[in-house]
Amino acid sequence: MVEGVDVLPVRTLAEVVQFLRGEAAIPPKQVDLQQLFSLKDEHGEDFCEVRGQDHAKRAIEVAAAGSHNLLMIGPPGSGKTMLARRIPSILPALGFDEALETTAVFSVSGMLENGTALVTQRPFRAPHHTISDVGLIGGGTSPKPGEVSLAHNGLLFLDELPEFKKNALEVLRQPLEDGRVTISRALQSLTYPSRFMLVTAMNPCPCGFLGDISHTCSCTPIAIKRYRSRISGPLLDRIDLHVEVPAVAYRDLSDSRETESSAAIAARVTQARNLQQERFKGTKVHCNAQMNARLIKKHCELDQNGHRMLELAGEKLGFSARSYSRILKVARTIADLAGSEAIRDQHLAEAIQYRSLDRKTS
Ligand SMILES: Nc1ncnc2c1ncn2[C@@H]1O[C@H](COP(=O)(O)OP(=O)(O)OP(=O)(O)O)[C@@H](O)[C@H]1O
Ligand SMILES: [Mg+2]
Ligand SMILES: [Zn+2]
Repeated sequence: MVEGVDVLPVRTLAEVVQFLRGEAAIPPKQVDLQQLFSLKDEHGEDFCEVRGQDHAKRAIEVAAAGSHNLLMIGPPGSGKTMLARRIPSILPALGFDEALETTAVFSVSGMLENGTALVTQRPFRAPHHTISDVGLIGGGTSPKPGEVSLAHNGLLFLDELPEFKKNALEVLRQPLEDGRVTISRALQSLTYPSRFMLVTAMNPCPCGFLGDISHTCSCTPIAIKRYRSRISGPLLDRIDLHVEVPAVAYRDLSDSRETESSAAIAARVTQARNLQQERFKGTKVHCNAQMNARLIKKHCELDQNGHRMLELAGEKLGFSARSYSRILKVARTIADLAGSEAIRDQHLAEAIQYRSLDRKTS
């Protein structure tokens, strides 16, 4: 993998001697990096298989373009899991440095497959909700990286979010904030990288049908409240986009018209990412989601109209301080997708409507 070095593979010392005497030639081993990185998505799931859900697809495109965290909320069978599984197909290709980092995590976990030298695809990790804290965050008696680190530079998908143990969701906060996890032991403390895009899905209530037009929800208000409260405000705050995924009507499901392929969406995502790469050149930040307060101030300027819009929305929806910076980052990404240097009203308005769960009443 190291550039500018010839690797001459030998089996025995005798071969080395022969080579040094000039009696045998050994052709250098070549690794075609380009080819390794261009291998795409082995299962080949594609967004063109998802009918309808244009609103959710758009939110997913925005999330992928800026590596923003996403929560999908909708009734059973509306396609949340199906959508999430297709997100890797629109993410930009893994860079070489990123590949080295991700490979290191897999390597210390003993999870590199035989014969694999480098992880060249963004990881997609989807742990079940019964996972232990240690399995999710890392640690144990002989410490190992958890799912948050195995998802480094890739995607962590938590399906059925409220089913996860409350504590597991609480400990997610550090890696989400810092992009790494520190595990303290009696004699040492270990740090693993954990910079991932978080994608989560949940039903709106325990029975799943709250707000559905064709079913009646059978949950009591208390049960709904208890269900929602399993996801704490501080965790919700750290999720940039909330999107509703309603049930799809049969008419739409049976619609045989072609819908957009993952490749077409990926092209736009990559274009927006290239703008970000240029913007953050020479810094440790790769994409809009990773901007700190200083960078937000620098790159997410609003005009007077924008400030007014944000103020009004905040009064109505009861945003927390964190919500504002999330909105600005998402608005930056939406502007990038539109190829606009300035964040315009329509970009900001779209970003605001992805905060539907911030309502004061919830
Ligand atoms: N928009 C859609 N287009 C095409 N097929 C769909 C769509 N939505 C659902 N389906 C079909 O229904 C199945 C169930 O969808 P999926 O498992 O993604 O639902 P879900 O929202 O995750 O439900 P649950 O809340 O029960 O987990 C899919 O495997 C797919 O075959
Ligand atoms: Mg599901
Ligand atoms: Zn219900």
